[in-house]
Amino acid sequence: MNAQLKNQSGPLVRPMRFQDVDAVLAIEHKIYAFPWTLGNFRDSLSSGYSCWTYDFCDHPIGYGILMLAAGEAHLLNLGIAHDWQGQGLGRKFLRHLIEVARQDSADMMFLEVRPSNKKAIELYLSEGFNEIGLRRNYYPAANGREDAILMGMAL
Ligand SMILES: CC(C)(COP(=O)(O)OP(=O)(O)OC[C@H]1O[C@@H](n2cnc3c(N)ncnc32)[C@H](O)[C@@H]1OP(=O)(O)O)[C@@H](O)C(=O)NCCC(=O)NCCS
Repeated sequence: MNAQLKNQSGPLVRPMRFQDVDAVLAIEHKIYAFPWTLGNFRDSLSSGYSCWTYDFCDHPIGYGILMLAAGEAHLLNLGIAHDWQGQGLGRKFLRHLIEVARQDSADMMFLEVRPSNKKAIELYLSEGFNEIGLRRNYYPAANGREDAILMGMAL
């Protein structure tokens, strides 16, 4: 698939369905060294989390998973397919997820990010998230574990 948006209308956000999980998992495996499993995505859908895909020509090129509870939103996963990165789609999709949280009357939105993921950190900071804490040894890493930066934003 051509990963340029020239002469095409842009990707469309829509709710994720169970039949999207294979396509989403294929993206996940290409963009994360330690990907979520099929079960993680299925459980997110079964649990009623706010699960979204970003579609181009009816095919997922991105996805986001938001847990909404008790006036708080927690961004559990956000991914844009490798060939589609760097075109502003991650930012647009994140803004959609922030709007979903606001519509659900969440007061705060939280997420974890690896300190090594400078690209994602830049994106979150520029959209108004702040670093509010550190979760020690949160993520698996090639040489053991990696901390997570906890970020939050008042909505
Ligand atoms: C993080 C991710 C969602 C961003 O999506 P994207 O479509 O590539 O990002 P965008 O094109 O919208 O860029 C948004 C911002 O990210 C930052 N960014 C993008 N590419 C960058 C790079 N190579 N270096 C540093 N910052 C970068 C910039 O702040 C950029 O804003 P700008 O273009 O106005 O400068 C995407 O790269 C991704 O899926 N990565 C792998 C999975 C992942 O890390 N998810 C987040 C887990 S917490």
